[in-house]
Amino acid sequence: MKTLIINIKELLQVRDASILKVSGEDMAVLPTIKNAYLIIENDSISDFGVMDDLPEDINPEKCIDADGKMVLPAWCDSHTHIVYAGNREQEFVDRINGLSYEEIANRGGGILNSAQKLNETSEDELYNQSKLRLEEIMRLGTGAVEIKSGYSLTVEGELKMLRVIGRLSKEYPITIKATFLGAHAFPIEYKSNRKEYIDLIIDKMLPEIALKKLADFIDVFCESGYFTVAETEQIMEAGIRFGLRPKIHVNQFNSIGGIQAGIKYKALSVDHLEVMNPEDIESLINTETMPVALPSCSYFLGIPYTPAREMISKGLPIALASDFNPGSTPSGNMNFVVSTACIKMKMTPEEAINAATINGAYAMGISETHGSITIGKKANLILTQPVSSFYQLPYAFGSNLIDAVFIEGKVLA
Ligand code: NIG
Ligand code: FE
Repeated sequence: MKTLIINIKELLQVRDASILKVSGEDMAVLPTIKNAYLIIENDSISDFGVMDDLPEDINPEKCIDADGKMVLPAWCDSHTHIVYAGNREQEFVDRINGLSYEEIANRGGGILNSAQKLNETSEDELYNQSKLRLEEIMRLGTGAVEIKSGYSLTVEGELKMLRVIGRLSKEYPITIKATFLGAHAFPIEYKSNRKEYIDLIIDKMLPEIALKKLADFIDVFCESGYFTVAETEQIMEAGIRFGLRPKIHVNQFNSIGGIQAGIKYKALSVDHLEVMNPEDIESLINTETMPVALPSCSYFLGIPYTPAREMISKGLPIALASDFNPGSTPSGNMNFVVSTACIKMKMTPEEAINAATINGAYAMGISETHGSITIGKKANLILTQPVSSFYQLPYAFGSNLIDAVFIEGKVLA
């Protein structure tokens, strides 16, 4: 199957295959081709260039005239929790009425509330609820997504979540990476015996998950009131033994040394980073670890935004992800994420698009196949509506300027 897209007003994020992430001042550059064509063969990008060089002998099965429209890589959302049961609307209202996220969690709400709901929900029902969110984010332009477990906190339930992620991956064309987050919170019955829950993660959950190849990565919520740095290190170390590279939650509410722990264990990414001191920024320089910001979480909880300007000025890369989950970010709209990064974190549109495509792909270990317009990469593309410039995408926050989404070469119905 061959599809030709012609008269593309501007083709965004055109990269050489050797570029797997962009950092520091390079983030301000978004390479583009004006008045372009692009050819999709089966599930991949097979050619592109300026219209003047359009080959004559293409013979496509399908030709799309993109007059006035732009094409960019589909979003790569490297941090989500979209497999969950029910919702937490009541906690949303409780927060409006003055309770804090922490107070709600301390009353048994928060993650434990979601865990109770998930543990009462059958695997089929969990799949049915989760697939609606997956379909929604695909329509909103996401072409690759990481999904975490962590809303059961029991051996059987964590496996159930990971099986649901595996089933979504089989049933849908979108690329999915699975992360085991058994260390998301301590179940009430283990509050006074933390070691026993950590042993359960390491001795019971991890071996099963590795045996059944249910996860690619391991995550820990390293935060005051959740997992200490020492516990985080112990769990990362065990995950690595079972072949899972760490990608961890750090510095959401407090800076307690999670970033340095992540770097020590060669985490692929450290995520959240709302609360950063100068040493935290310094320690990320010249590492392989991608800092991931989640501005929709800051927006929804009213907590600080990741200090992107300071980090970029120190030469760091940044990836942007949604954090789609029932408690802190009930939205997986990457268009809103990009817009909010521009408006609230003062990232330029070029930086934000780099952060949500190539750097997002890096943060889930797929930037050799996703995240840029590169021959041989997956044809995961967004075709915009007619726009005056790509600045309009973050500028018109809240509008949906997507005309069509291609995943693995096929237009979403
Ligand atoms: O990334 N911070 C930890 N985990 C999720 C939210 C958990 C919840 O409230 O359900 C997050 O924000
Ligand atoms: Fe998260």
